[in-house]
Amino acid sequence: AAVDGILADLFARLGNRQDQLLPVLHGLQDSAGYIPPDRVPDIAAHFNLSRAEVHGVITFYHYFRTEPPPRCVVQICRAEACQSMDGDALLAHAERALGCGLHGRSADGAFGLEPVYCLGQCATAPALTINEAVFARVTPARFDALMTDVLK
Ligand code: FES
Repeated sequence: AAVDGILADLFARLGNRQDQLLPVLHGLQDSAGYIPPDRVPDIAAHFNLSRAEVHGVITFYHYFRTEPPPRCVVQICRAEACQSMDGDALLAHAERALGCGLHGRSADGAFGLEPVYCLGQCATAPALTINEAVFARVTPARFDALMTDVLK
């Protein structure tokens, strides 16, 4: 229902000229976090486009997401200094803890695991981010403690 309201507002504000398709998609993702695939028919009808055309635009731009973003994104630094400071062990631990590999998501969709290449913490490696907050000298035990905080 929230998505319906967001879409109705965007349609009213931006009109139905086809050059407003991208602004509507951006507005929807900004407000709803993603573009629910079941809204593609409404969007197509509004702009007098086919569903395939709207779907094509959504998939062409990698920026658009078609599923809700994970509640928590963990980025593990995979650059050299972190790798040489047990970064591989940290990654293996994170993969076990979250139940997914790099570029993956936990089974419940709540966690995403991504690589990142240097966070400017090389002297205090290994480093990671949790929802964009940077942490250094992260041992597996510290990883567990940080995740426990996130889950609170
Ligand atoms: Fe990981 Fe620089 S290599 S923070």
